[in-house]
Amino acid sequence: MKPLIIYYSYDGHSDFIAKELSRLLDADILRIEPENEKKYSGFAKYFFCGMGALFKKNILLKTNNEKIEERETVIIGGPVWGGAPAPALCAFLKQTPLAAKKTGLFLCHLSKPGQAMQTLKSLIGEGTKLIAEADFINPDAKKTEAFKDKLDVFAGKIKNAIS
Ligand SMILES: Cc1cc2nc3c(=O)[nH]c(=O)nc-3n(C[C@H](O)[C@H](O)[C@H](O)COP(=O)(O)O)c2cc1C
Repeated sequence: MKPLIIYYSYDGHSDFIAKELSRLLDADILRIEPENEKKYSGFAKYFFCGMGALFKKNILLKTNNEKIEERETVIIGGPVWGGAPAPALCAFLKQTPLAAKKTGLFLCHLSKPGQAMQTLKSLIGEGTKLIAEADFINPDAKKTEAFKDKLDVFAGKIKNAIS
């Protein structure tokens, strides 16, 4: 069975990585989508999304997690907000047991990921087998040279772990 890439993305960078990875790994994709998510830009984005992250706003999700149970390998990723994985990603992981799955993790961020990877690791829970991890600085199609090697190494580790 194909690996499943589960990701959240607000501005499209994690979406970009998820789709590149899906091509490299021939993996399926599941996008985490919150209920009634508002799209902000500029200062309002950092203010309202940042407040949600700071005060750990409870996020309701449209995404259902039933596709996951049968998967042996999952890759989970999304953006860093306020030094932590974005709240929608945390909400999804809190309601989704990943026990015993081979798991790859990726984060997208602008400058400082803080403790976000550590937090992500703690959210996937004990018993999951971490096979690869990577972080990317605002990746998109215009700067493939900047992250291509890192993405290839990340995908290679996942391929080795599942072959
Ligand atoms: C509310 C908010 C908080 C953020 N906090 C951080 C942060 O603490 N550290 C960082 O390096 N980038 C931070 N960023 C930048 C995003 O992590 C970065 O742009 C990421 O690539 C966006 O991924 P996405 O396009 O998949 O949403 C923040 C962005 C937003 C909207």
